[in-house]
Amino acid sequence: MAQLWGGRFTKQTDQMVYDFNASITFDKRLFHQDVTGSLAHVEMLAKQGILTQSEKDLIVEGLKGIVADVDAGKLVITTEYEDVHSFVEANLIDRIGDAGKKLHTGRSRNDQVALDMRLYTRERVKETDGLLKDLMEVILKVMEENLETYMPGFTHLQKAQPVTLAHHYGAYFEMFKRDRQRMKDIYKRMNYCPLGAGALAGTTYPLDRDFTAKLLEFDGPTLNSMDSVSDRDYLIEFLSALSTVMMHLSRFSEEIIIWNSNEYQFVEIDDAYSTGSSIMPQKKNPDIAELVRGKTGRVYGALMSLLTTMKGIPLAYNKDMQEDKEMAFDAMDTVSNCLVLFTGMISTMKFRKDRMAESAMKGFTNATDLADYLVTKGVPFRDAHGIVGRIVLDCLSKGCSIEDLSLAELKEFSTCFAEDVYDAISLKTCVEKRTTTGAPGPVSMKAQIEAGKAYLANEN
Ligand code: ARG
Repeated sequence: MAQLWGGRFTKQTDQMVYDFNASITFDKRLFHQDVTGSLAHVEMLAKQGILTQSEKDLIVEGLKGIVADVDAGKLVITTEYEDVHSFVEANLIDRIGDAGKKLHTGRSRNDQVALDMRLYTRERVKETDGLLKDLMEVILKVMEENLETYMPGFTHLQKAQPVTLAHHYGAYFEMFKRDRQRMKDIYKRMNYCPLGAGALAGTTYPLDRDFTAKLLEFDGPTLNSMDSVSDRDYLIEFLSALSTVMMHLSRFSEEIIIWNSNEYQFVEIDDAYSTGSSIMPQKKNPDIAELVRGKTGRVYGALMSLLTTMKGIPLAYNKDMQEDKEMAFDAMDTVSNCLVLFTGMISTMKFRKDRMAESAMKGFTNATDLADYLVTKGVPFRDAHGIVGRIVLDCLSKGCSIEDLSLAELKEFSTCFAEDVYDAISLKTCVEKRTTTGAPGPVSMKAQIEAGKAYLANEN
């Protein structure tokens, strides 16, 4: 039991209490951030004359030595220490003696952990943004290659109107674009440095908080010391944004699972991203898509967990806040893995364009266009809707599509039909005539793709 605070105690901590209280098993992942924060802290202490230059040099050298040894596997972070902060400080004192005892001058573990967690989260926000960009690049490539790959668009999972694969993927492009905007927004709001807030009320040392903030590449120091040590809003925002990313990935996964089914056969997932069955030799299952869909639950769980942890905490720091880590780390790892795997899966997935077009031809996806055709011949839309409804009913009884009916048969429903009707309701026309902004027609889609390219080129 290596603790930083034995002085006022007369008894050893009970072992179970020690274990229950300790955070080293999970906060050791903040090791590099912890040292980075300490390096900035001592730099500032020396500048302010709180440490001598030589004390600072000793500490800096000691800290760098610890990092080198940990990175080389020569020094292992073990449960002998209560938390990562104790590990670093104890090792520093072992290495450089009394000067090491000055590292914690003008600092508390409360502002220290607040800083470590922010530094760590800031990196993960950037990483997530980059992974989203990689995914969007794959999506955009599929869009460019599939401007004329027809497929049914669905509402209620019932065939509705024809769209293209480019258009369908374009919807996800927009979703992930918003996810990236959220990352940038969170980053901007969280990028203030809590170091120097002390335990809760600042310190009496003449710290230069602007200086440490600058050294650590923050936009400035946080403005209230009590808020600085007890704010986890940025983490809640990040978990919320990650939950939204997972919701998007989960919807996409669900579609791929459906498209990959025997009944649809719109896509074929690459062997490298599929798994088999231990009993049924014929099976090739979309496990990766299913796992992405399934793991959405644990990311939502992390968000709910932290919101609930924070809701009853009086100012300022309370130990409850140590609970911000495990599930948040799990959520961050989960989302990163899901983004990498999902991107790999969709960049290797093959499309069965024949199956998609065939499916788009069936199921009366051109019924709206038939009604619109009648409108061009002067029939009011509501009447046209009724006429087409009766035609669909007739086709259902005959087991055919609208375009299978002869002109004579169509004229029984309305005399407005003419030979040009067949072209007006062909799959190609149905899609091509949709030229409004955001629609699936190639004219609109080309504009969407150009906007997508410009976005990816400008947003790093
Ligand atoms: N392990 C603690 C956490 O994660 C570090 C801060 C401890 N502060 C304290 N006063 N006990 O929140």
